[in-house]
Amino acid sequence: MKDLINDLNLASKLEYDMQPLTMKQENAISIIRQIIVDFMNMNIDDKFPIEWKTADILSACYINADKDLLKRAISNLIQNSINHNENGCVIYVSVDDGNNACKICIEDSGIGASDEQIDRLNNTPYYMVCDTNTAEQRHGLGLLIVKQIIKGHNGEIHNRP
Ligand SMILES: Nc1ncnc2c1ncn2[C@@H]1O[C@H](COP(=O)(O)OP(=O)(O)O)[C@@H](O)[C@H]1O
Ligand SMILES: [Mg+2]
Repeated sequence: MKDLINDLNLASKLEYDMQPLTMKQENAISIIRQIIVDFMNMNIDDKFPIEWKTADILSACYINADKDLLKRAISNLIQNSINHNENGCVIYVSVDDGNNACKICIEDSGIGASDEQIDRLNNTPYYMVCDTNTAEQRHGLGLLIVKQIIKGHNGEIHNRP
């Protein structure tokens, strides 16, 4: 409940530009490594091992970012892999700096989502998601917040690599 209220608060602030982004030059790789360490400290490694797939030669990937919000977006995605795969899965995280862009990829080996489900998530405004069909009920604002944060960074979101 507390999380939901926090999420609602953040989502509406981002929506109405009331949450100013504090952009600084940041190393995406160190931010993401920190997030992984935080998840690993939650002792979920048996059920949800996290694999770092980034090329060893890439030690830094500098971007202009709001560190806290970027962390929030990436954590939401990793948390989704955990929340929506009750039997466990491997979580793959990578950073790639090709084409003058920093590409951050979060994937999992879990149940995934159908094209239809992804389509609905992409195209249905949050307030219109049906609440009578409990199997499809959307509880959180996780992906909406991810979208808002990436938009605030002038970034792009791709569903599949
Ligand atoms: N990694 C994932 N694997 C499978 N389904 C996912 C994953 N991430 C998100 N989903 C689906 O997308 C929906 C929306 O995610 P989100 O906006 O974070 O809300 P919540 O996690 O609170 O349900 C989830 O309810 C789930 O059905
Ligand atoms: Mg979620």
